[in-house]
Amino acid sequence: MTEELLDGGERLGREELAALQLERLRATLRHAYENVDFHRRSFEAAGVTPEDCRTLADLARFPFTAKSDLRDHYPFGMFAVEQSGIRRIHASSGTTGRPTVVGYTDCDLEVWADVMARSLRAAGVRPGHKVHVAYGYGLFTGGLGAHYGAERLGCTVIPASGGMTARQVRLILDFRPEVIMVTPSYMLTLLDEFERQGVDPRSTSLKVGLFGAEPWTEEMRAEIEERFAIDAVDIYGLSEVMGPGVAQECVETKDGLHVWEDHFYPEVVDPFTGEVLPDGEEGELVFTSLTKEAMPVIRYRTRDLTRLLPGTARVFRRMEKVTGRSDDMIVLRGVNLFPTQIEEIVLRTPAVAPHFQLRLTREGRLDALTVRAEARPDATAGQRAEAARAVAAAVKDGIGVSVGVEVVDPGTLERSVGKIRRIVDLRESA
Ligand code: DLL
Repeated sequence: MTEELLDGGERLGREELAALQLERLRATLRHAYENVDFHRRSFEAAGVTPEDCRTLADLARFPFTAKSDLRDHYPFGMFAVEQSGIRRIHASSGTTGRPTVVGYTDCDLEVWADVMARSLRAAGVRPGHKVHVAYGYGLFTGGLGAHYGAERLGCTVIPASGGMTARQVRLILDFRPEVIMVTPSYMLTLLDEFERQGVDPRSTSLKVGLFGAEPWTEEMRAEIEERFAIDAVDIYGLSEVMGPGVAQECVETKDGLHVWEDHFYPEVVDPFTGEVLPDGEEGELVFTSLTKEAMPVIRYRTRDLTRLLPGTARVFRRMEKVTGRSDDMIVLRGVNLFPTQIEEIVLRTPAVAPHFQLRLTREGRLDALTVRAEARPDATAGQRAEAARAVAAAVKDGIGVSVGVEVVDPGTLERSVGKIRRIVDLRESA
């Protein structure tokens, strides 16, 4: 990576970075304590004041913030500035209960565009490239977050948003973008559409894709890179902390995501005890914002499982590709299982396509899981039967639990237009 492609924050040494983090952390703790009732009360309950943070390690003495705390203060109770200073609002989809609402000041929006521009650069995007943004625009942070970052870098943005798949393909063919930003599952929907239109997906202008907003595996990377002849890199973020652009995989190493630690301070904790784990150990990712004004977050529990690793292509530490959210963990007859583990197996099995769904049902007093995977269009009946046996055996051997496997006809399973829903839980109605 040549020096001129790095911004000021990316050129810091580890020691300078730590000093900057501590200064920003102390200011953030003070800002949260002085301006948000929730934080003041929770600091008091934990017996700490912002002055108790003298080193970065002291952060461990401060209380966590959970998603439920944000919901309890719906809509604006976590904001730390006057409403007139809030320039934009986003909200999570809120599949269960109230959505979580987040706000940004002018300054927050500047930082967001800067870290997104940095993410794009790390992915190999350069000024002048055309960027097709197929993340949804709206309350979801994906579309607008990607949009302003790409403009900040000096790219030409094509704000396609999600959906209208046939039109997406037309736009890609006509406008010839080098870059696409989309969920990996929606990229597969686009793949189907290219093939339906008789266009070789390897022949497009696309060179690189930034895929995120949902977990995806190395197997999925290999599939997307091979089918589209592009580089596929991972982008991570969450609305509570900012949106996309919290961490980004560098295209030259593709070895996990560098956390933009000058703005977002990561910790990994034991999900049960809350104890901070040393780098290298897997647990729940927790973030404290270092520069946010409108809605500072203090030790926000993401429920995403990963581990922290030393930097490679950048000074910042990396987080390993997220294997799953604790919310998406299926406990099947005492065995813990994540959809990404099934993804790895499905994608390694010839004769099945990368489209699959997990159905949970109840048989008597026991839960049962059926993996429904689509056959590749050219698979014979014999190959389909063999694939079903192979998936079941791989799950049994690799994860240690018996599941049913159905290989269904191509095109049977619902396609993603944004974040995919892998698990269909039929247990209540069973
Ligand atoms: O999904 C922000 C985003 C948009 C990230 C576009 C990347 C690209 P939320 O809707 O608040 O924000 O959902 C955040 O999505 O806690 C993770 O569980 C999951 N997630 C996001 N990126 C990744 C990723 C956006 N690269 C939640 N790998 C997070 C795995 C991811 N999971």
